[in-house]
Order: sequence, then structure tokens, then C-alpha cells
Amino acid sequence: MNEKTAFKPCDLVIFGALGDLSRRKLLISLYRLEKANLIEADTRIVGIDQHEWDDPGFVEIIHNSLQEFLNETIDEEIWARYSARFSYLKMDLTQLDQYQRLRSVINGSSRVMVNYFAVAPFLFTNICQGLAKSGVLNEESRMVMEKPIGHDLKSSKEINDAVAEVFSESQVFRIDHYLGKETVLNLLALRFANSIFTTNWNHNTIDHIQITVAEEVGIEGRWDYFDKTGQLRDMLQNHLLQILTFVAMEPPVNLEAQSIRNEKIKVLSALRPITRENAKQKTVRGLYSAGEINGKPVPGYLEEEGANTESTTESFVALKVAIDNWRWAGVPFYLRTGKRMKFKRTEIVVNFKQQPHNIFKESFADLPSNKLIIHLQPREGVEIQILNKIPGIDENIKLQKTKLDLSFSDIFKNSKIFGGYEKLVLEAMRGNPTLFLSREEIEQAWTWIDSIQDAWAHMDAVPAPYAAGTWGPKAADKLIARDERAWEEEPEE
Ligand code: BG6
Repeated sequence: MNEKTAFKPCDLVIFGALGDLSRRKLLISLYRLEKANLIEADTRIVGIDQHEWDDPGFVEIIHNSLQEFLNETIDEEIWARYSARFSYLKMDLTQLDQYQRLRSVINGSSRVMVNYFAVAPFLFTNICQGLAKSGVLNEESRMVMEKPIGHDLKSSKEINDAVAEVFSESQVFRIDHYLGKETVLNLLALRFANSIFTTNWNHNTIDHIQITVAEEVGIEGRWDYFDKTGQLRDMLQNHLLQILTFVAMEPPVNLEAQSIRNEKIKVLSALRPITRENAKQKTVRGLYSAGEINGKPVPGYLEEEGANTESTTESFVALKVAIDNWRWAGVPFYLRTGKRMKFKRTEIVVNFKQQPHNIFKESFADLPSNKLIIHLQPREGVEIQILNKIPGIDENIKLQKTKLDLSFSDIFKNSKIFGGYEKLVLEAMRGNPTLFLSREEIEQAWTWIDSIQDAWAHMDAVPAPYAAGTWGPKAADKLIARDERAWEEEPEE
């Protein structure tokens, strides 16, 4: 490990080590970091959960998780190094006295204790209190927590208050895994390192911006969680708003965490509220019915295992959003996200304004405007749609729509593109807060989302149905069509 990537060894303590998040994401990401030689040699990983296991039993579970979720063959040499880091502690996280057990593993070592809360939020307070009581924490200790941080402003404040009693804000690392995605970070580079974009990034040149986070998956056996949450809280409150802040923020003075956070908060606080008065014009809710994805039939939301057939929870949301500041005056942002859509696609489409006068009527009665499409996943890249003359010696100049296409995997062949978790887990171990959310950001986001939830609670309408495997309800097309615009056409996969 070179000097730049070196960091203090950690005791990474995973609360909820046998849970879904840990098995599907965390343990897999840590293995990938191990493989990339990015985990400090003396770092240890302690798994905590309520089930009775010994260390070898826990290690076997990790091996099984890798086999299930890694999507590549486990390298025996890496595995030997990786598996040697683990130990397991059985604990009932609601019993504060049991946190004393941590003393046997965190025994005043010189490692930094990084506590990863991979559990349901109702346990966050218990864990904080238990850790405080056990006496294992010091001012270098950190805590990492994931969404959902509450389900509204009030509950998120309660969680943040409970955490603040034990950890100072600088010790708290709140994860939104989208901030670890390569292309989200690349937005900073694209916008602030390239003058071609910097100078054109405002209401003078941009007509509107679309952000789409379409998911192919349904609710993956999480009916209980999802039905209480809905797509607005599950995806939009966090992932889409985070993407929006990176697209819309002013240039930060540098790349320090505080500078970036300040700019993001300004965007969140400039979001025009969606209220009971305007929610009908600005929002669409959808719910998937049975359909087909990749040629296979899939059930509707209300037919999923464990479903309450009376549910009116939304699995799709489309919003028209305004940002009330100088840069974005009059530029709408259209956001949409849904489960069980035709295929997985996360992208930002920046639609530039049309030319004021068309001298190419022979080719286009209505001259198409330029677009910058930023593909976040599954195929990371940047594409610019331009008009070009078709080569030839005809008397008339004929134009054709073409694109400059930059696919990251083609251009950066030798660089591995990691998923969001690898980056974030690593940064949490390194103690770099730049990619994590501040309390203020989360609370601003909830304030804005609560107003939408309130408007929906006072509406008669229920979510509009859409067949699984489509791009959402017709009402979402109408939302944007009312402004004489259309969602970016989805190319067939
Ligand atoms: C999670 C949501 O935060 O993000 C899930 O809880 C969703 O419902 C997932 O499926 C999507 O993440 P990604 O990285 O696959 O786009």
C-alpha cells in the first residue's frame, strides 16, 4: 500500500453482520477491497448479531455470501487473508449490558473503532447507548449508518439526536451508496474541470434536465419495509436528491467535505416546495401490476409475497421540480424512479435550448437541441448528442443526429470501476467524510419530502397502475408532455 492510500488500521465492527445489507453488500465490498489490496494489514472485522455462531461458523457464512453475491470466483489466496480478519460476537443489541462483551475484542487497541450500523433504524439508539456504556469508544471512533435515517423529518431528528449524544458530527458517516458511484463523483469533474460545461450550465443555455433511476427489480422480499416506505422515501429522498444536488450545485471552493456539503445544502434549501395546492400538477405516483421483464412474467406489487392487497404505497414516482435560485430560474428538473421498469437505467439528461433560428429546415422542420446524457448505470459513460452534416456533395446541406459517446469501460480499460459500497466503506475506514451526508442535508431533504407526503395524504387519488416491464404510468408521460417535452426515449437493450 503506498503512502497516499495508507490509513490507520481499524476495528471494523458490523452490527447486524448476518443481515441482508451485510451479506449482500458489505462483506462483498470488503472482499473486493481486500482483493485490490486496499485494506490495511492489521485491520480486523468483528461481526455482531443475535444468532449463536462461533468464529468458524461466521466465516463459513461469509464464504457462502461471497459464493452467492460476488459474481466471480473466490480467489483462495485472497480468501485466506480476508477470512483471517473476522471474529464473531453474539449479542442482543437491545440489552445494553451485553455491549460489555465488546471489551474483550476492542481492548484499548491502537486501531480506530469504526462501527457500522447495518441494522434497522429502531436499533440505532440502543447501539449508541450500549457503545457509550461499554466504554470502548474514544474520540477517534466513528459510526457509519445507512438510510433510512428516519421516515420523516421528526423521526430522522430523533435518530440524529440519539446519535449526537454519543458521537460528535465529525464522527458520524451517513451513507448514501449513490455517492460512491463512479459517475456521480465524475459529475464534479465534468462540471468543474471542463469549461465547455461550466460556462453553459445554467438557465441561459439549458432548457430542462431529466433524472431517471429506473429499476428492474421489484421489492425483493422486502414487502414489509417497502410498503411502509414507498419509492419516494426509498429512492427519491436520498439517491435522486443527491444526484440532483451534484447536478445543480454551485462550484465548491475546493473538494473539502464542508465546501461540498455547503453547496449541496444550498440546492436542497432552494427546492420549491411541492404542496397540497400544486401536488396534482407536479407529482405522479404509480404502482406496478403484473407484467413481463426480460421475457419472464412477474407478479404485480399487490400480488408479491406477504402483500397487503389494500396497499396504496407507490412503487413509482415522477416529479416536476423547480430550484429557486439564479442559476436555475425557469429550468424544470423532471425526476422519475420506479421499481419493475423495463430495465435498469440510471441517467441524467441535460437538454440544451433550441437554436433561436433554424436554417436547416430541409433536414429538420424542428431543429433538435443538443443533449448531454450522463449514464450512471449500468453502462457508465457520457454521451453528447449533436447534429452533424451528412458527408456528400449534394447541393443542400443535410443534417443527421449523431453522438459523441464516451464509455468509461472502453476508455479506461485498465481502471477497475468499483460499485458504490467499496468506495464508501473504504472512505469510512480512512475517515474521509467528503462523500457522506451531513445532518443538515438529511433534514433539508426530509423537510421537502414531508411536504409531498402530506400533499399525497390529502389527495383522493391512489397511485396509477403500470404494467411491470414498462416505463411507468401514462400519467408520467402527461406530466412532462404538459410542458411540450418528453422523457428521453429509451433505446432497446
Ligand atoms: C436502495 C433501495 O437504497 O437502493 C432499494 O433501498 C434499491 O430499494 C437500491 O433497489 C438501488 O440501488 P442500485 O445501486 O442498485 O441502483
